[in-house]
Amino acid sequence: ELKGETIIVVLGASGDLAKKKTFPALFGLYKEGYLPEDLSIIGYARSKLSDEEFKDRQIGHIKGPKEDASSEEKSEHDAKLKKFQEISSYISGAYDNDDGFLALTKAMEEIEGKRQNKGSGPNRIFYMALPPSVFTVVATNLKKNCYKGAKDARIVIEKPFGKDLESCREMMSALKSQWSEDETYRIDHYLGKEMVKNLLLLRFGNLWIESSWNKNFISNVQITFKEPFGTEGRGGYFDEFGIIRDVCQNHLLQTLSILTMERPVSFSAEDVRDEKVKVLRCIPAIEKKDTLLGQYVAAGDKPGYLDDDTVPKGSVCPTFAALTLFINNPRWEGVPFIMKAGKALNEAKVEVRVQYKDVTPGIFSDIPRNELVLRIQPDEAIYMKMNAKTPGLLTRAIPIELDLSYKRRFERAKIPEAYESLILDAFKGDHSNFVRDDELDVAWEIFTPILHWIDGKDGEAPKPEPYPYGSRGPEKLDEFINQYGFKRSNTG
Ligand code: BG6
Repeated sequence: ELKGETIIVVLGASGDLAKKKTFPALFGLYKEGYLPEDLSIIGYARSKLSDEEFKDRQIGHIKGPKEDASSEEKSEHDAKLKKFQEISSYISGAYDNDDGFLALTKAMEEIEGKRQNKGSGPNRIFYMALPPSVFTVVATNLKKNCYKGAKDARIVIEKPFGKDLESCREMMSALKSQWSEDETYRIDHYLGKEMVKNLLLLRFGNLWIESSWNKNFISNVQITFKEPFGTEGRGGYFDEFGIIRDVCQNHLLQTLSILTMERPVSFSAEDVRDEKVKVLRCIPAIEKKDTLLGQYVAAGDKPGYLDDDTVPKGSVCPTFAALTLFINNPRWEGVPFIMKAGKALNEAKVEVRVQYKDVTPGIFSDIPRNELVLRIQPDEAIYMKMNAKTPGLLTRAIPIELDLSYKRRFERAKIPEAYESLILDAFKGDHSNFVRDDELDVAWEIFTPILHWIDGKDGEAPKPEPYPYGSRGPEKLDEFINQYGFKRSNTG
């Protein structure tokens, strides 16, 4: 249980991230009683908003109770929401001069002055829901104006952390000159997802998984991220980054590192992250030949990427990428790890698919491979494709599934939102699911060469393959994947 006065300041409080993710997650935690009793929330942004306007926006994305909730649950929700608004206030100020930050400090001191409970928790958490262009200046101004007098101050930031190795290092060193590693919490929200958090347990808590988790048994691994919508007005932002910077270099690589790391000495944040860094250091930079890029085009009534007015004319920015990585260590040498990520595809799905090798021939002529699938979203599930005998008098093999669907198995469990899980960790001071500086560095080393090639820094930028909005991706995708030994099983 968290005790003590805590103020969380959400910077960029009128922006999209704060509205859609930060405030709903804060409310979710607050409602369930996970946050300190005497919490205060201060929103800070440039927009001039009255307290009331701010509070309306703050709760705009908070989901109400389920329709079939009892009247008691509904009134409890309303009461909590009211209280949540009462502990919230808003300050409008600039990011690049002292005035607003001094006003913020004054507001924090007023709240702190009224309180008796000095407690043991952090007292000031600064959550930066901000565009990267102001990360450094805001972090610097916070340190300069809002840090003195704080018992335990923390800063929470979220990607993009630069655009390549060099720009990331530049940003990190500017931030680090102000905020120590211990005070800094770098969010990659995939690390807060239930199934990603499950990976360590699944791997190291099950002998049958752990003992086959290597190149002797596994043929290839696919990590897939599919979204059924395009950039839809967010094209200006997206075009600067592209799909690889948007999800591969961070979300999918983080997932890969936990999937492949050695067993940590303990569950402690440093032990876990030490192992992640070690395995990442075994991955050489991705090569051009192991890359397939795509960009969606109009299909039916759905617009193409270049039809989005916010996208620069003629952009060759990839909205789809398939990339194959290799890990040069004794466990994984030679096993292809295929990352596939794309916008405007045929479905919403994020999953890891571990395909085992063929059963040695002999008594079987053609039997599908085992596959262990970890579905991260939607509908968390773990299933193993395996072979069994068809029930009956004949001895014939049939592919079946050992199927653990979370909805069915954990009917009543509430699966927390990724941001809830991470914000709570930041309150508790647990760094395990935050990205350490050296992880970030090595992640950029793996991706920077192909990103520079895609950006046209090595000559002409490669042209992405067109794929229709709502399709599985570029036509060449199957051929691309098959070259790494993937075999489509007859169960689809
Ligand atoms: C963000 C990307 O980091 O992750 C978005 O910038 C993407 O483009 C999002 O849509 C996906 O997150 P989730 O939790 O919806 O899978």
